[in-house]
Amino acid sequence: MKSAGKKIIMLTAYDCPTARILDETGVEIILVGDSVGNVLLGYDNTIPVTMDDMLHHTKAVTRGAKNSMVIADMPFMSYQLNPESALLNASRFIKEAGAHGVKIEGDIYLDSIRKIIDAGIPVMGHLGLTPQLVNQLGGYRVQGRTADEARIIFEGAKTLEKAGVFCLVLEMVPALLAKKIAQSLTIPVIGIGAGIYCDGQVLVTNDILGLTEKGIPRFAKKYVELNSEIRKAVTFFISDVRANRFPGQENSF
Ligand code: KIV
Repeated sequence: MKSAGKKIIMLTAYDCPTARILDETGVEIILVGDSVGNVLLGYDNTIPVTMDDMLHHTKAVTRGAKNSMVIADMPFMSYQLNPESALLNASRFIKEAGAHGVKIEGDIYLDSIRKIIDAGIPVMGHLGLTPQLVNQLGGYRVQGRTADEARIIFEGAKTLEKAGVFCLVLEMVPALLAKKIAQSLTIPVIGIGAGIYCDGQVLVTNDILGLTEKGIPRFAKKYVELNSEIRKAVTFFISDVRANRFPGQENSF
């Protein structure tokens, strides 16, 4: 798709019905993001998310996805300890949960990344803003604004490509830096807050559906207001039950 100039679509899913919709609408890659932590599980960030959380949600997603590629995010501390435990954890996403590959943040744990790839498991890289390092980065802000930072991200991208990652997510970096990286790599670069020149785009599905209560980041786009639709439906149900309008004859036996 990259060489044909056709944009790659990636969206997150954490459950079977959402995965089924993304799959049937032609999304190429479904990411079971560790964003499940803040999007669904009520945490402030992705750090508390566990292997058990990720396996549970990945299994639900693979039950709904028949054509899309399913990538599972490796959660914080599942690949940092040593390459052996990283490979063991990655293999659980493939063998137990039916994912096609895993995503790993950063370019620090290259030995783990290489070991996983050598075992035949596709690895997607992730550079720029890497949310598992939020405490070190001091918040969710654009990365690679200075020449030094941009060079580090650019070199990281080249290193990851050389290590064998099949695809790279670039999060919250200036559009021109993403352009330079996308043009310099043969693997596809999928942007989130990384501008128009990437080979594909990824967003958190709850953000595009208007399900995110706290408001969405500037780089996201809301296509529908499901939050207020859900509130409306629940309010109608409450008033129907209280006013004895539900269940009606047609709902009764
Ligand atoms: O966890 C996630 O959803 C992600 C995407 C935002 C790229 O890593």
